[in-house]
Amino acid sequence: MANGSAQFAMTRLSRVDVEGLGKSFQLGGRRIEAVKDVSFQVRDGEFVSLLGPSGSGKSTVLNIIATLLPMSTGRVEVDGQPIISGKTTPNVGYVFQRDTLFPWRTVAKNIGYALELSGMPTAERRERVAAAIERVGLRGFEDAYPALLSGGMRQRASLMRTLVKEPQILLMDEPFGALDTHTKLDMHDVLLKIWEREKQTVLFVTHDLGEALTLSDRIILFSARPGQIKETFEVPFARPRDGVALRETAEYAELFSHIWHSLGEEFIKGRAT
Ligand SMILES: Nc1ncnc2c1ncn2[C@@H]1O[C@H](COP(=O)(O)OP(=O)(O)OP(=O)(O)O)[C@@H](O)[C@H]1O
Ligand SMILES: [Mg+2]
Repeated sequence: MANGSAQFAMTRLSRVDVEGLGKSFQLGGRRIEAVKDVSFQVRDGEFVSLLGPSGSGKSTVLNIIATLLPMSTGRVEVDGQPIISGKTTPNVGYVFQRDTLFPWRTVAKNIGYALELSGMPTAERRERVAAAIERVGLRGFEDAYPALLSGGMRQRASLMRTLVKEPQILLMDEPFGALDTHTKLDMHDVLLKIWEREKQTVLFVTHDLGEALTLSDRIILFSARPGQIKETFEVPFARPRDGVALRETAEYAELFSHIWHSLGEEFIKGRAT
C-alpha cells in the first residue's frame, strides 16, 4: 500500500508542460532574446519556483503560460491542452507583484469581483467572500477601502481576489516583492497554510532565494539573459514549514549557500550584459 502511494506520488499528473520555449522581443532595431529553449513540467499539487536574476526571463515565461504574451518558439500545455495566447485557460489564476485592488471598491467587493462577473448568486458569493476574508485574517476590514490598509493587508486581499475563484493552478509573479521582510514572512505563512489545505499547483516567480526555499518543493534556477534553465533543485524540507524556524536550521543554511553560489554567478553575468 505504502509502495503504491509512493509510486502514485512519483507519477503524479503533469499540470503544466513547457517544451522548448523561446521568446524574443524587438526593441528599437534590436532583437532581444529573453528566453531560450526552456523546458520543464509542474506536477499536480507541486509548488515550483522560478528563481533567477533580474532580466532572466522569469516573468516572460510566466506571462506566456498565463496567455498574456505570445511565445516565439516552443509549446506550452496546461492539463494536456495547448494554451491559446490571449484566451484565458480554465482553472488558472494569476497573482501579480503589485496588488491589483480597485481603490473604489471595499475589501469584500474587491474579493468578490470575479464572482460577481461570473454571475454567481449573491448568497453563495457572500459566503465565499466571507470564507476568503476569514482565511487571510481580514475579518473586521470587509468594508474598508484599499487606501486604508497596510501593504500586507492589501496583498492578502489581492491574493484572495484570485483564490476566491478556486483556481487549481496558480501563477504568481513576485507577489510579495514589495513587502518588508517580516510582512513577507507573514504572507509566506498565509500562503503555505492555504496551499497545505488546497494543494494548488503553483508556479511562483521570485529572485528571493529565501522565499523560494521556504515555499517550494522544487526550484528551477534561470541563467542570466537569455534565460535558460541552469539547474533544478529539490527542496527536501519537511512540511508543514515554519519560515522563521526553518531559517535557523543547518539544512536550510546548507542548501541556501549551495544555490546562492550558482545564483550569484548569474547575477554577475547579468551585470556584465
Ligand atoms: N515587452 C518587452 N519588450 C522588449 N523587451 C522586453 C519586454 N518584456 C521583457 N523584455 C526583456 O526581456 C528580458 C526578460 O525580462 P523579464 O521581465 O521576463 O525578466 P525577469 O526575470 O522577470 O526580471 P525581474 O526579476 O526584474 O522581474 C529583459 O531583458 C527585458 O528587458
Ligand atoms: Mg519579473
